[in-house]
Amino acid sequence: MKLATFVEAVDPPSVLPTPARMAAFVMSLRELGYDTAGCARRLRVFPRLGVNFWEAMRPQWAPAPGDAVGWLIRLFIDSVAVPVDTLHALVPVSLIDDAIEARLLVLDGDMLRPKLSLMPCDGMYFVTDRAAKNTAFNQVMWLWGESYLLAGLVRRTSRRCAFDVGTGSGIHALLASRHCDRVVGLDVSPRALEFARFNAALNGVHNAEFRLSDLLDGVDGSCDLLVTNVPYAPDLAARAGDNFWSGGIDGMELLRRIVRAIPERVDADGGVYINSLFPLAPGSTLRGNFAQWLGGRFDDLQTLDHTWPVPFYEDLLSDAPIDADKSAWRFGVVSLRRAPHGQAGWWRELGQDRFFNADGSCRAAVDHDAT
Ligand SMILES: C[S@@+](CC[C@H](N)C(=O)[O-])C[C@H]1O[C@@H](n2cnc3c(N)ncnc32)[C@H](O)[C@@H]1O
Repeated sequence: MKLATFVEAVDPPSVLPTPARMAAFVMSLRELGYDTAGCARRLRVFPRLGVNFWEAMRPQWAPAPGDAVGWLIRLFIDSVAVPVDTLHALVPVSLIDDAIEARLLVLDGDMLRPKLSLMPCDGMYFVTDRAAKNTAFNQVMWLWGESYLLAGLVRRTSRRCAFDVGTGSGIHALLASRHCDRVVGLDVSPRALEFARFNAALNGVHNAEFRLSDLLDGVDGSCDLLVTNVPYAPDLAARAGDNFWSGGIDGMELLRRIVRAIPERVDADGGVYINSLFPLAPGSTLRGNFAQWLGGRFDDLQTLDHTWPVPFYEDLLSDAPIDADKSAWRFGVVSLRRAPHGQAGWWRELGQDRFFNADGSCRAAVDHDAT
């Protein structure tokens, strides 16, 4: 399967003139029940891993006639045009006007056409590019199952400072802003930063900043929470970071650099959460790769390996995906911390591949302190 590809210039979202209007827009979505649980109730599969919350993966689903949330899903997740009269009958007029003014929708005759996606996650809202491949520019990644997975696995304890590397829509930085004093989202894509700043304004977040940066180069010092989901697909047609999916020829170019930076950039009491495809060479292990990348520093770490094997991994995005032996490939989240004083390092494989609850929430079955 490949994604349908189109070519269309699309403007980034535009912040509404006042914070009060941004807040009212979010409040309307919330009051209508357009949230993770509301979407999960209607789609049942939302937001399980993979792409099964896309329309193409559930062709039987259609919004019920009087169901506002169903029609919002149609517009903002499926990216399908909806008759303006249908929406007018179900949602406040101000919601439609604000979505048009923020450049999420355009009115085209009697149809509302989506230009951007708007997805809920854990009480917040994230505007991204639409969930289809558009080659006109470097798209800002919409929320995939992996975005929800990483969001669900980060332990939400109080922190001093979080770095979100490859922030895209800003999702992990903005979720972290609720339990961290300070948050820095980093991305090489200027378009991503525009979306992340819009999403900060949308969610009324004031303690997050977003910087143009090659991985951690744009920020000094260390953090006590590092969250990252940088591109990982082995791609012969694009250099690592040229788009939101290419991790270079072996897929692990960016990942390796981040892992090597952990000892200097993460405080002794800090936590690290890495989502990735791990396109490992046949016969090699994830633990072995981390040990090689970190050298002598590896033994200090306590690691939870929430990944699972993906020998049939299918790349939906790359123009020239690598044709390799995928028998050792894995996907998922690795979370690490420095061994507390007096304790030894360890690596624990959890073998968990079901993280989502029926209401769309997601969480780790085991965290570092429960091992
Ligand atoms: C897979 S997307 C993740 C988006 C978001 N964090 C999420 O989980 O939904 C990867 C992001 O990393 C960014 N990126 C690619 N190369 C990068 C680099 N060298 N330094 C910083 N960010 C990079 C891309 O622009 C993209 O926004």
